[in-house]
Amino acid sequence: MPVKINSTKDTFHLTGGNTSYVVHIDSERDLLGLYWGPALNNADITYDEHDYMPGASFDLPASLKPFEIPTPGNGYYGTPALRIRNEYGDDITELKVVSFETYKGKRPLSGLPYIYTENDDEAESVEFTLTDSLTGAEVKAVYTVFNNCGAITRSLKVRNCSEKKLVIEDIMPASLPLWDGDLDILHLKGSWARERSLVRTPAGKSEYRITSERGASGHEENPFFAVLSRNADEDTGKVYSMDLIYSGSFMDSVRSDHQDHLRMGTGMDPDVFSWLLMPGETFVSPEAVLVFSDTGLNGMSAIYHELFRTRLARGKWRDRSSPVLINNWEATYFDFNEQKLIDIAEKAMNIGIELFVLDDGWFGKRNSDDSSLGDWKENRDKLPSGIKGISEKINGMGLMFGLWFEPEMVSPDSRLYREHPDWCLHVDGRKRNEARNQLILDLTRPEVQDYVTGSISEILRSASIGYVKWDMNRNMTEYYSGSLIPERRKETQHRYMLGLYRVLEKITSEFPDILFESCSGGGGRFDPGMLFYMPQTWTSDDTDAVERLKIQYGTSLAYPASSMGAHVSAVPNHQTGRTVSMRMRGEVAMAGNFGFELDLSALSEDDISEAKDLVTRVKEIRDLTRTGRFIRLLSPFDGNDAAWMFVSENRDEALVFFYRTLTTPNTAPVRLLLKGLDPDASYSDSEGRTYSGSVLMNRGLTMRTRNSFSSETVHLKKTDMN
Ligand code: GLA
Repeated sequence: MPVKINSTKDTFHLTGGNTSYVVHIDSERDLLGLYWGPALNNADITYDEHDYMPGASFDLPASLKPFEIPTPGNGYYGTPALRIRNEYGDDITELKVVSFETYKGKRPLSGLPYIYTENDDEAESVEFTLTDSLTGAEVKAVYTVFNNCGAITRSLKVRNCSEKKLVIEDIMPASLPLWDGDLDILHLKGSWARERSLVRTPAGKSEYRITSERGASGHEENPFFAVLSRNADEDTGKVYSMDLIYSGSFMDSVRSDHQDHLRMGTGMDPDVFSWLLMPGETFVSPEAVLVFSDTGLNGMSAIYHELFRTRLARGKWRDRSSPVLINNWEATYFDFNEQKLIDIAEKAMNIGIELFVLDDGWFGKRNSDDSSLGDWKENRDKLPSGIKGISEKINGMGLMFGLWFEPEMVSPDSRLYREHPDWCLHVDGRKRNEARNQLILDLTRPEVQDYVTGSISEILRSASIGYVKWDMNRNMTEYYSGSLIPERRKETQHRYMLGLYRVLEKITSEFPDILFESCSGGGGRFDPGMLFYMPQTWTSDDTDAVERLKIQYGTSLAYPASSMGAHVSAVPNHQTGRTVSMRMRGEVAMAGNFGFELDLSALSEDDISEAKDLVTRVKEIRDLTRTGRFIRLLSPFDGNDAAWMFVSENRDEALVFFYRTLTTPNTAPVRLLLKGLDPDASYSDSEGRTYSGSVLMNRGLTMRTRNSFSSETVHLKKTDMN
């Protein structure tokens, strides 16, 4: 039983994997968090109010009480998990537990992405109902614990059971006290073309906030973050982490109180969110995922990877390896015609590529980024036989056909905008700020959602399309919808996300065979929310292999290799001007969903044959890179070398990747200490050398690669079982 309740029915021990989480209802019927950390044999934690008494008489006990849903007004002065403004204008809320319910499995979250179960034995849930008697606010706090991995999900449902209006101003589905000291904060920061760099900083004496106000999770920040022991590394130490299953603005917070206790939490960004709750209405928060590891960051990542790959991603492509693709973007940009595309596809076919993706520029009169978004009709000057014609030709060569869309946008120079100038997010009387010459459609409006669903579905129905790249190339500026009454205007960003999720649910359900990949100027919306609808995301517009080491390494903290699009592009690289061998570019891309994004006709004979070899190798290893355990070995943030490996579930097979960006002459070869192998087994590489698992993990595997911008892979297979 993963949710164990004590005999007095006031302490709830949620346990799975190596983790325990203990929640308690105290004598005042407050819901308290008593523990999160390594698994406890028995959660007989006595809740002693003295533990929470302030040292001096100045503070109220509530200032230290470890609330699970802290609210303003009772003496708690930290960051609230819930702030509800009531009809009297105050936000004082006293949430008292009135009942609880446990059940096997996990219930869906309506209208939002969530972690699901496939059978009820995988997880167990407990729902606490709390009420504030004065305002009539009712809160359901929903917890689920997963048996095998110990991941915990939390969400809140707030219902207005009164006759008066309530306004939710802050909501964090997860907020909890930590019972540990000497901690660092780790999060993923970046920008366009430099997404998800690791930032590690000591947890200080104040509040540390990680936020996006952009209406997207963003290139700059990611909802994933961790608080970890100061000495924790990839393989040792305690890590407490959270991710928010949401693609819009968010706030993560780590806050120290006056006695240096830390609290961490994740939820909506209160600067760009509020929600008017009318009598009888319910607001459902996004879901937070909580992962604890006492085997460092690799241990944490293994839990996220498995959970996100198998219980967040959905549909047919969840359990299939992605086809090797070629995308024409960096090969042609907007300058193409049907013949040029057919030529690329022919060359692709000859080297074993399986999917041809036609990127931006196929619709309206779009020959640069200054027009036509919203007019999803093919440009017959470029494509005389239309999307149907070209898709049939590509299919005739034995390749799948894929298409790029940017459905959430409108160009001011478009038929759509001329017909519906009020369909974009805007504020009357203010400038409509353009970014990349475009505006954002107001997806809070059902008629706009229906237009997007209808126009995209029409194209998808009209031709044989096996793949869609769903792009989104700017962030929100005037994030208010004219269709909402003033009291509701601050709901716009969240209503937009609900509208987007509605559109995505409709389209992905109608076209279950299509492989969808999300994108936002590269990896500007690489978050768990999008992975619920689309199993993969374009990781970055930066295709430089050296930069990609950092981007893919950082992304791998929370997101599985199966979710990362990774392409080989031309040299000198279009983003950095760097020249890296075809082999290294390929071996970096092989650690994700592999593809090409270059003009194959411009390649030398040698590069073509290397490319062909890469495709053959990818087809051999892609099941392993999709389903195997991904383990980080050497960090590109720490030096000029990087390494990671994949190990199959039964440890019969492993694939080791080593990369060197800059070399130092006359230095010893690198000996990589491998991880996750069977110590008692023998493994052999493709050249017939054999090694024992324990030697590989303790003495290491010597890399032969010495030169700058080079890479090496070693494919190990078990030869015997001792
Ligand atoms: C974004 C994407 C690119 C490409 C262009 C097309 O930047 O990230 O991959 O699709 O848009 O305009």
